[in-house]
Amino acid sequence: MITRRDLLTSGVALSASSLLAQSTLLRDIALPGKARGISNPADIAIAPREQLLFDFGWKFTFGNGSDPSKDLGFGFGQSDFSKVGDFKFAKAGFDDSKWRSLDLPHDWAVELPFEHDDKGSDDSQLRSHGYKPLGRRYPETSVGWYRREFDVPQSDQGRRICVEFDGVFRDALVFVNGCFVGRNNNGYAPFCFDLSDLLSYGAKNFIVVRVDASFGDGWFYEGAGIYRHVWLTKTDPVHLGRWETTVRSTVKGSLATLALSTLVQNVSREAANGKVIWKIVDPNGTTVAGAESPRQLIPADGSSTCSATVKLTAPRLWSVDEPNLYHAIASVEVDGTMRDAERVKFGIRTAVFDADKGFFLNGKSLKIRGTCNHHDHAGVGSAVPDRLQSFRLSVLREMGCNAVRTSHNMPTPEWVDACDRMGVMMMCETRQMSSSPEGMQQLEAMVKRYRNSPSIILWSIGNEEWLLQDEMAQQGARIAASMVQRCHELDPTRVVSAAVNGDNEKGLSEPLDIVGFNYNTPKYPEAFHKKYPRRPIYGSETSSALSTRGVYVTDKLRNTVNCYDGAADWGETPEAWWKFYGTREWEAGGFAWTGFDYRGEPTPYGWPSINSQFGIVDMCGFPKDYFFYYKAWWRNEPSLHVFPHWNWHGREGDEISVWVYSNLDEVELFVNGKSIGSQKVPRLGHVEWKVRYEPGSIEARGSEDGKVILTEKRETSGPPVSIRLTADRTEINADGEDVTILRAEAFDREGRPVPTADNMLEFTITGPGKIIGVGNGDPNSQESDKQPRRSLFNGLAQVIVQSTKTPGEIQVEAGRGGGQGPGRTQRNLVIISKQVESRPSVPVIQQ
Ligand code: GAL
Repeated sequence: MITRRDLLTSGVALSASSLLAQSTLLRDIALPGKARGISNPADIAIAPREQLLFDFGWKFTFGNGSDPSKDLGFGFGQSDFSKVGDFKFAKAGFDDSKWRSLDLPHDWAVELPFEHDDKGSDDSQLRSHGYKPLGRRYPETSVGWYRREFDVPQSDQGRRICVEFDGVFRDALVFVNGCFVGRNNNGYAPFCFDLSDLLSYGAKNFIVVRVDASFGDGWFYEGAGIYRHVWLTKTDPVHLGRWETTVRSTVKGSLATLALSTLVQNVSREAANGKVIWKIVDPNGTTVAGAESPRQLIPADGSSTCSATVKLTAPRLWSVDEPNLYHAIASVEVDGTMRDAERVKFGIRTAVFDADKGFFLNGKSLKIRGTCNHHDHAGVGSAVPDRLQSFRLSVLREMGCNAVRTSHNMPTPEWVDACDRMGVMMMCETRQMSSSPEGMQQLEAMVKRYRNSPSIILWSIGNEEWLLQDEMAQQGARIAASMVQRCHELDPTRVVSAAVNGDNEKGLSEPLDIVGFNYNTPKYPEAFHKKYPRRPIYGSETSSALSTRGVYVTDKLRNTVNCYDGAADWGETPEAWWKFYGTREWEAGGFAWTGFDYRGEPTPYGWPSINSQFGIVDMCGFPKDYFFYYKAWWRNEPSLHVFPHWNWHGREGDEISVWVYSNLDEVELFVNGKSIGSQKVPRLGHVEWKVRYEPGSIEARGSEDGKVILTEKRETSGPPVSIRLTADRTEINADGEDVTILRAEAFDREGRPVPTADNMLEFTITGPGKIIGVGNGDPNSQESDKQPRRSLFNGLAQVIVQSTKTPGEIQVEAGRGGGQGPGRTQRNLVIISKQVESRPSVPVIQQ
C-alpha cells in the first residue's frame, strides 16, 4: 500500500486538498478518452489506486455438501447457472438476517466440536484434520456461505475494481449481484476477479462466497473458510500488472545495480503513451535514487513491459542480523498524469549455495538453522491475525532459528512480511507438485507474489512425492523440469529445490538446482555427496522429534511423550540431526520438523490426541525442553536450561533423570544446596545426572574458565493459589485487527511457579476488546478454543485478545472455574487500546 509520504517523495505533483480527500492515494484525475463500458468517461474523476481491506462486516451460515435444500437451494435443479444474474442469494432482497455476523479472517473448523468416528471405519481424514468433522462424510459442517453488502460510489465508474482473496479453504465459488463470477479450486493460492462490469455504481452491491471444505489439500489440519484477508482494489484502466513489478539487485563490492521492471496494462479501448517512474527509498525512508523507463506505447487492451536500472553505492544489505528493507515506488504516467502507483518492498543481498562449503548470505558462510511450520495456532486455527505471525516468528527467533520452511503450501503474505522485517530466511513451498494448469497456477502465484522478498532464499516445488521419485520417475523428472524452468523464468535470482524423502538420485530430483533431504540422516545425504560432489545439499526436513511440554514420561495410555529423547521412528532428536547437519562444511544446514506443534496428524498417537507433538514449542508457542537445546547451540549468547521440574510428589526416593542444555564449558548440579558433581558439556550435546528425588530444589550452575556465568533452579512448589496474567504487549492498536497474546501462569503461596497445575480458568474481559481464542498446548485437550475458559496445562494457558475499533482500556481477569481453581488473578491485567488510523477498508453497511 502506498502512503502519502511515499507519494510526496515520489516526485509526482499532488494537490493538498486531494491528499486530504483520499485515504490511500493521490489525486483525482480525469480519464481521457473512452474506458470500457462507460458512456461518458471524460466526466468521471478517477483516483489511481485504492486497496481496501474487505474483512469487516460479513455474514456467515453453514450450507450442506449433499443436500441442496439445506444449501440455500443451490444445485436443487439443473438450471442454477442457466441465466446470468439469477443467483438470488447474491442480490438485494435476500434475507440473511439469521446468518451470523463476523469479520474475516475466519476459520470455522476451529469452532467445531471434536468428533471421533469410533465405528471402526477409516478415520484418517478426521485424524488429519485433528478430529474436526470436515470432509464428504460431514456435509453439514463442510460447506460455508459468506455474504457481504457493499457500496460502490458513482465516481468509481471507469475504474477497474477487483476482489482479491489471499487464501480460502477450500473450493470457492464467487457470486456478485446475482452473477457467478468464478471459482478457485485449492486451499492456499490467492485469486482475484475483476468485478467492474458486474457492479452497480452509486448503489448497493452484494458478494457471496460459497466455500466447500469437503476435499483437502494435505494430511494436516487445514482449517475451513475465508481464513486470509480479502481486498477490494480499484485502479485506473491503465495500471501496473498484479505482482509484475520486480526489483533485482546485483551486488559488486560496494555497488548494487537494481534492475527495475514492471508491466503496464491497458484495459481500455485506446492506446496510451506512458512511462514508469521509480523512486528508491532506503531503510530510513529517504529517497536515494530514481529512474524512468523510456516513454512507450501501451496498446489498447494490451500491455507493455517497462524497465530501467539504478545504481546504489554502499547499499545497506539485508541479513538475518540487520534486515534492511528498501522500497521501490513505481508509478505509471500517461500524458503527464499519474495513473497508478505501487510500493514494492525489497532487500539487497546475495544468497549462494555451494556444494563444498554450504550456504553463504552476503558472502558470509551461514548454516541454515531452520524449522518447518504449518500455519495454525492455538485458539484461532488457520485464521491467524497478522500480529500473531510476528509473535510466532519471534518465538522461533528466540531459540536462534534463522530460517523457516512454509511446509507444505504457499504462505500467507503476512508470514513472508514478518520474515522480511525480522530477518528470518525462508524456503517457500508450493502445495501441488504438478505441471498441470492448476499446479502451475499455484506455483506462478507464489513466485510472482513473493519474488521481491529478501527473506526467500529458495523455492520448493513440493514435498515427498513418492510416486514421482520412483514408480513414475520419468513423469517426475519432466514435471519437475517444467516447474523449475517456470521458476527460473519468473525469478532468475533464486535456486529451486524440493523436499525429498529418498536417495534423490532419480525422478523429480534430476532437474533440481539444489537437493533437499527429508530424514534418512546420515545415510542418503552422505552417500549422495560422495557420488555427486558438485550438487549442493541441505536438510529440507529433519528431526521429527516428539515431546509433550512439561511431561517427562512416555505414557501410551495418556498419549504423552517424554521431553528427554522422544522422536519418531524415522526421525531423530535435535541433538542427533544437528550433530550431522551442523558440523559438515558441505551441508548448508536444515529445517527441523517442526517449530510449532500443529493441529491434526496427531503423531505419535490418535484419539484423543488432536494435534501433533513434533513441535519444539507447543501450539501456543510455549517452549518445550528441546527449545533450549537449540537455544544453546544455535545462538551465541551463554545459555543454560535444567529440567525436569521438581514436583514429583509420590515419587520420593525414585531416581529422576536431570538434564542440562548449555553452551557453557562446564555445569555443576546442586540438589538441595549440595553439589552432586560437575561435568564438562560436550559440544552440541548435553549433560545428565540421576538424582534420587526428595522435595526441595535442583540448581544448575554453568561456568566458563572456572567462573560461574549462569545458574537456573527448579523448586518443589506448593499448590497453586494465584494466577498471573502477562501480555506480550500492553498497548495495542484500536483497529479491530491488532492482538495481544496473554500468558496465564499458576503460582503457589510463596510465588513459585507451579509446573503441574491443571486448574480450569475463566477469563473475563471488559472494555473495547474481545477474546478470539484460548489454548494451553495440551495435545490431548478437547476443550473449546473459543470459550473464555481453559484449563492450565502444566502450569500455563494462553488467551488471545483482539482490539475493536474503539480505543480505551481493556481489562482481563482470570478466575476460578468450576469452583476449584487456584483463585483470582492478583489484579486485573490492563491493556491500552490506542486510537490509530485504521487501514483503509470497505465501509461496513450498518443493518
Ligand atoms: C514427513 C512429512 C511431514 C510430516 C512429517 C511427520 O514425512 O513431510 O508433512 O508428516 O513426515 O514426521
